[in-house]
Amino acid sequence: MRLNLAVLPGDGIGTEIVEAAMRVVKAICEKNRHELTYSYGLCGAAAIEATGNPYPEETHQLCMQSDAVLFGAVGDPKFDNDPSARVRPEQGLLAMRSRLGLYANLRPITTFESLVHHSPLRTELVAGADLLCIRELTGGLYFGRPQGRSEDGNTAYDTCVYTRKEVERIVVLAFEYAMKRRKKLTVVDKANVLATSRLWRQVAQEIAPRYPEVEVEYMFVDNVAMRLIQWPKSFDVIVTENMFGDILTDEASVITGSMGLLPSASVGVHTSVFEPIHGSWPQAAGQNIANPLATVLSAAMMFETAFGLVAEAALIRKAVGASIEAGVRTADIQIEGVPAYKTSEVADWLTNYIQKG
Ligand SMILES: NC(=O)c1ccc[n+]([C@@H]2O[C@H](COP(=O)([O-])OP(=O)(O)OC[C@H]3O[C@@H](n4cnc5c(N)ncnc54)[C@H](O)[C@@H]3O)[C@@H](O)[C@H]2O)c1
Repeated sequence: MRLNLAVLPGDGIGTEIVEAAMRVVKAICEKNRHELTYSYGLCGAAAIEATGNPYPEETHQLCMQSDAVLFGAVGDPKFDNDPSARVRPEQGLLAMRSRLGLYANLRPITTFESLVHHSPLRTELVAGADLLCIRELTGGLYFGRPQGRSEDGNTAYDTCVYTRKEVERIVVLAFEYAMKRRKKLTVVDKANVLATSRLWRQVAQEIAPRYPEVEVEYMFVDNVAMRLIQWPKSFDVIVTENMFGDILTDEASVITGSMGLLPSASVGVHTSVFEPIHGSWPQAAGQNIANPLATVLSAAMMFETAFGLVAEAALIRKAVGASIEAGVRTADIQIEGVPAYKTSEVADWLTNYIQKG
């Protein structure tokens, strides 16, 4: 098969983790005789430095012409510490999501048996937790207009807007994923207070009869925030709007014990983007210490979701599981008394495993 990728490392640790993931991608492609072509593009602070734009037109065209995008992370303290900066790296991410029409962010939360003790939650609560959070990504409060401040600066406002079409497409996607999994869907809203939430609930209730095998529950976001911590194993697929999803998916990510382990996929109208959930961790940039597994697992999602190459995805996940079992771990998940592996050393181990496996 021909795979044509856009590779956007972004900022900070982005370069190192994407480099590691690309080595795994190349190893898988060589092993399975896939013809891989790829081109690098700028995004985030790196793109601002070079072009003044955090998501340059050239990068957008590259993404549009590719079959999938492998993304690192964006963000730089220079901008974080300057509230007056008019152009910011994160605008590149929002522009990419918006222009590629990436309306759904998929975050699988799974636990590795040998790492459950890294979780801040009790082992018996976490072991075996396996859920998929689906967050709406291009609507709601983050994009609604008007947004702003009154002239005297003492009043501020944001607008939350959703259309039926926006809700329908993501709820249908969530039902489809539930059908492929344990057939349970939790629709998260705040329908007791918000008009947009009542639209979400109504649309979900209208779609539900099309999927009689799926058990659907409707829950308020505050309740879900508590239950994720108390009983994460009670969830299979969760679907929710943009801001609730932003907060809940970060909460859910803590369950596994390290930010460095969790992948995501953003899918929609044009090319899909595969990226770790963490940021650019600028303090670690260039040190070769970041955990590359979230990005490697994002590449696994890419093989599965963008190319339908399920066996390739399974082999990547097997390699990741084996590396953790073998103690080949970066500092964030290191075994006490055992020296931590470097980012590139984890990539060495994974590529070797794939070549031999
Ligand atoms: N999708 C994105 O590109 C994205 C997401 C979140 C934050 N950011 C940006 O990243 C920058 C830093 O933000 P932050 O410090 O809040 O979040 P961050 O995710 O970069 O780092 C938070 C902490 O998570 C841990 N961590 C993150 N990635 C890791 C990895 N690969 N391996 C091991 N540990 C890891 C580290 O302990 C780190 O201190 C900011 O500029 C922010 O805007 C970007």
